[in-house]
Amino acid sequence: ITKDSITVGGKTYKVDQATNVTTTILEKTTRQLFQIPTHPIAIIKDLIASTFPDFKHYQSFSPVVTTKQNFDDLCFAKDHPGRAATDTYYINEKIMLRTHTSAHQLQVLTEADKVLVTADVYRRDEIDASHYPVFHQMEGAELFDTKTAVDVIRKQIATDTAQHSKSIHTTDITVITDKNPKQDCHDQAAMLATADHLKYSLNKMVRNLFSHEKNLTVRWIDAQFPFTSPSWEMEILYKGKWLEVLGCGVIKQDILNNAGKPDKIGWAFGLGLERLALVLFGIPDIRLFWSQDERFLHQFEPSKIQKFKAFSKYPPCFKDITFWSNEDFHENNFCEVVRDVAGDIVEDVRMIDEFTHPKTKKCSVCYRINYRSMDRNVTNVEINEIQDRLREEVVRRMKVELR
Ligand code: PHE
Repeated sequence: ITKDSITVGGKTYKVDQATNVTTTILEKTTRQLFQIPTHPIAIIKDLIASTFPDFKHYQSFSPVVTTKQNFDDLCFAKDHPGRAATDTYYINEKIMLRTHTSAHQLQVLTEADKVLVTADVYRRDEIDASHYPVFHQMEGAELFDTKTAVDVIRKQIATDTAQHSKSIHTTDITVITDKNPKQDCHDQAAMLATADHLKYSLNKMVRNLFSHEKNLTVRWIDAQFPFTSPSWEMEILYKGKWLEVLGCGVIKQDILNNAGKPDKIGWAFGLGLERLALVLFGIPDIRLFWSQDERFLHQFEPSKIQKFKAFSKYPPCFKDITFWSNEDFHENNFCEVVRDVAGDIVEDVRMIDEFTHPKTKKCSVCYRINYRSMDRNVTNVEINEIQDRLREEVVRRMKVELR
């Protein structure tokens, strides 16, 4: 950022009175967490994408969009609160960081009828353990020919249900009210079939994601979005609490008309990946997703949901011990002595050097011990005392010769 311009992703933009984006926020645009296969955000993304195998998946859109893409194209009113500078990061009056993946709906729906979009999104927000100004969304949409939608959808759901018997408890009888209306241009039967297909597809998606839960309860809450009608929020009963998972609905026909597809009808959903990753991995704080610490990044495996293991946020204290080993020496016995002397304050023991003396044939080994507490800073004085005791005990119990 300079006085009169901002550069993001190799492109330069003019600043003006609307500019409110900061360097810290712009730095996040290069991180691409959903492209790191062992990152929880990417693991959730892959699991969701596997429920939509024949969808075209867009994952490399720049976060810099026009206010037209983010708002106008999606039928946001000129005075919609989402446009406020208090909620949105503006690069200038006309250019902003997308606040949702829906910003790409119009473009991708002109190109394909079954689409997914994964991207980082940006919102000015409160700070707490589950909110962060940058997070990740996944958008999905599917279109049908309006004329044949009812038949096609009924057939597909019937064959699919015959193949997958896993049950789900859900209130999926679609009720249309004045508050959550059908669009005038839509045929009632085609719209209801589309809504059924939407709910059916999303049930299947969460069933796959929460496959460890025997009984999964889902409910659909009437909602409002400028770009869908009728609209819902999907909630899942998880550990006794209703968890809001996504927003969805029947796409506003204006968008499909603008995409050059006036003869189609379709549904769309948008979900936050962090919210799902937090509960599924048991991650206690949203900031951990941005950790560059290998103790975070190296604990997960691609396509697998596993519980997060906490690690210390306090600094380490390293001490080396070098000795002539002997025939009876075994690393596990050495570690046992370390554990006896130092207890849980040791995070890690690792051999960093080993050599055999050319004349005496004696073998020398050096171990590096990482002392670190889970709940406080350790002092060098206290660690030196432990290390001295360790040196004595290693000699006494392992009959090795310190160097
Ligand atoms: N874009 C909406 C949001 O960010 C979610 C949404 C997507 C709702 C698609 C309906 C259809 O909250």
